[in-house]
Amino acid sequence: MPIASTSQLLGYSPRVTIVGVGKVGSTLAQQIGEKNLADVVLLDEVEGLPQGLALDLMEAKGISLHSREFIGTTNYADTAGSDIVVITAGQPRKPGMNRDELLKTNARIVVETAKNAIAYSPNAILIVVTNPLDVMTYLAWQATQLPTRRVIGMAGVLDSARFQAFVAMELGVSIADVRAIVLGSHGDLMVPLPRYSTVNGIPITELIDAATIDRLVERTRKGGAEIVELMQTGSAYFAPAASTYLMVEAILLNQSRLVPVAAYLQGEYGLHDIFIGVPTLLGASGVEQILELKLTNAEISALHLAAQEVKQNIEQARSLLAS
Ligand code: LAC
Repeated sequence: MPIASTSQLLGYSPRVTIVGVGKVGSTLAQQIGEKNLADVVLLDEVEGLPQGLALDLMEAKGISLHSREFIGTTNYADTAGSDIVVITAGQPRKPGMNRDELLKTNARIVVETAKNAIAYSPNAILIVVTNPLDVMTYLAWQATQLPTRRVIGMAGVLDSARFQAFVAMELGVSIADVRAIVLGSHGDLMVPLPRYSTVNGIPITELIDAATIDRLVERTRKGGAEIVELMQTGSAYFAPAASTYLMVEAILLNQSRLVPVAAYLQGEYGLHDIFIGVPTLLGASGVEQILELKLTNAEISALHLAAQEVKQNIEQARSLLAS
């Protein structure tokens, strides 16, 4: 493990701010440090929590041998000059809390944190992780008025990773050979695309029968809920953090990765004024390109159904915010 990367030797270290340091945020911070990618500012409203986590991460550096800094703070001024801001802040649904209350609470948190963070890092790329993901990404974009390519929702990478894992487990093949792609919203209406998912280039539709594919698709759609059900006291964080890490790396290293993310559509796939999961090229400027795949009628209908729900939720969130 190199103690300093080339960019550091040249006197520059990129900076990633993570707003909300629950399990996803803190796991992401650890990965960014251990892969020697960037300095990390951990920000949370709970005084002491981000400072404690940053100190803990600093103390692990002597063992993981990287040279990135971790700063823990409750003050947005300390996040100034970030290249990327990741918003994971938000509440999980509590017992007795209805969907509207959750939508309203998280909408307030995301709007406020996005505005505060971008005020100090006007050139940053914003990655939104808070649920309901596609809605929160839209609200963060509206609140910050950033160019659309610089506002990105994390979900397609996670949903595709889950589909990929289920395919590999089903076939007993190395996950290294499995590529999978999932479009649409991050929820029950997401749109896994078996025709475009392959084992080393062979579409899975050639390798797995239709009923089994349907089962894997359904398991992917419910991937988050399956883990909540098992854990009872929390939700997934290793795969969500790893998925966010992939996006941060693609941007900071200008990799032009072809991955599905929630991106702003202006006519692509027949959809307008919405953030929803579509294949993109992710690189230094954010969403460099949106790829329009040829979809079957069933696939396009499924995407439009998901979009309809996202639009309804955006409207609902906006009226809740105004109330
Ligand atoms: C999941 C939640 C985090 O899919 O959205 O696990």
